[in-house]
Amino acid sequence: MEITENMTETENKEVQTTGPIPITVAYGDGIGPEIMEATLRILDAAGAGLQYDVVDIGEAVYLKGVSSGIPDNAWETIRRNNSFLKAPITTPQGGGYKSLNVTIRKSLNLFANVRPAKTLTPYVESQFPGIDLVIVRENEEDLYAGIEHRQTNEVYQTLKLISRPGTERIVRYAFEYARAYGRKRVTCMTKDNIMKLSDGLFHQVFNEISQEYPEIEADHSIIDIGAARLATNPQSFDVVVTLNLYGDILSDITSQVSGSVGLGGSANIGPTVSMFEAVHGSAPDIAGKNIANPSGLLSAATMMLVHLGKGEIATKIANAWLRTLEDGIHTGDIWREGKSSQRVGTREFTDAVIERLGTKPEHLQPAEFSEGKGIAIEVPPIPRAEKHLVGIDIFLDWHTDNRNPDVLGQGLESATTEGVKLKMITNRGVKVYPGGIPETFQTDHWRCRFVATDGGNLSYGDALALQNRLTEAGYEIIKTENLYTFDGERGYSLGQGE
Ligand code: NAI
Repeated sequence: MEITENMTETENKEVQTTGPIPITVAYGDGIGPEIMEATLRILDAAGAGLQYDVVDIGEAVYLKGVSSGIPDNAWETIRRNNSFLKAPITTPQGGGYKSLNVTIRKSLNLFANVRPAKTLTPYVESQFPGIDLVIVRENEEDLYAGIEHRQTNEVYQTLKLISRPGTERIVRYAFEYARAYGRKRVTCMTKDNIMKLSDGLFHQVFNEISQEYPEIEADHSIIDIGAARLATNPQSFDVVVTLNLYGDILSDITSQVSGSVGLGGSANIGPTVSMFEAVHGSAPDIAGKNIANPSGLLSAATMMLVHLGKGEIATKIANAWLRTLEDGIHTGDIWREGKSSQRVGTREFTDAVIERLGTKPEHLQPAEFSEGKGIAIEVPPIPRAEKHLVGIDIFLDWHTDNRNPDVLGQGLESATTEGVKLKMITNRGVKVYPGGIPETFQTDHWRCRFVATDGGNLSYGDALALQNRLTEAGYEIIKTENLYTFDGERGYSLGQGE
């Protein structure tokens, strides 16, 4: 049925639900156009029933002076469609260009990055046969907020922001994913032995939410030993949920150890729009030569089909692809003497997959995606705790010749206003006053903790008066952090040695 101007609104809606599903497509840079063409050819041959709305993003747009790499009119298309299939793009060298991926993820609220890693030995080499795991990475928060400051001559800062709603959403997503895909275990990885508040929140939320999924095993690992185990015993993991930076690193480790950096796809899931892409970049060194492996983008497209409720088509494509690899038809990146039967280019590999649509692998485990794996996450409102100001950390740029903390401490004490007292001074987190030890290295960046003299609440007016007084006394304040309790619980860390 064709859409005509005379059709009623109801008839139009019917066309939209029964006709091809529109998705946004970006051909990208480098090998992007070749692997996208290959992927779309396979989707069409499999009868995926999609319509492609193409947007131009990436290098050419950057070089036209759009620092985000994405023009305004592309946003409209991306926001209109449920799914965005994106080929890799090249970020031009030099300053001023913003990461397109980070911009898209954060603008569209793509909170979950899902990266499966699976070995296909003996057909694709890996040191670790039997890997079948998924990294679920929080995609928007953490150090990727990009809030950085140089505060003194010597010290630079990046803010790590972790929110309870953001954490609840990603942890719940990991458990819902495990449930939907029949996975048995979810492992949380944090560094909460050091970052007790931010990573501590992530671990605590994980413990709370895991109670709602009694059929799924839940455990926690400190990120350093967890990463070491992922690198040496990846077969023992199932689903791993973690914060943004750790997830970024872990997912590259797992892609590498599974031997499939060129084969991996990833999904960036949001509440309305989701983006699907290969794990690898635009590979400019092999662009335009018909040698790139289109498998990474094809895997991403398979994830997209499952997301769109087209599990049957996803299964058909994944099985044809597995059969092609099993038949030894390999692009140069995975071709091995004695193991592969035919070394092919991008187009020939694509033809081979299309020829095998409708077949299954004979030795590898066939893929089986059921319909409707779309996962909707609801985060209940977070109750507001009773919050009280109990002190203030005032950070100073102080750089006398001998940097004696006792001189600073005594100077601050004599400048302190009524009702407020200096509790301690730390340098890079270590207490240096009162009672510091001479071996502690000192930079020009000092955190000076003030609390109410009576140990109770502090008024913000008193905190401001203190800052005015310190400024008048010649101290340079570079920033402040209020110290709060929430329902009586301390909302700040103690200094080392406090
Ligand atoms: P890369 O992943 O593009 O390439 C690394 C190596 O793997 C190269 O030797 C390349 O030839 C090979 N390779 C990658 N994909 C392949 C495939 N499908 N088939 C066969 N061989 C393949 O990483 P690189 O060189 O660090 O980055 C190149 C550009 O890609 C940079 O501008 C970078 O910013 C961008 N990039 C874009 C990403 C995205 O759009 N999602 C992700 C990562 C990098």
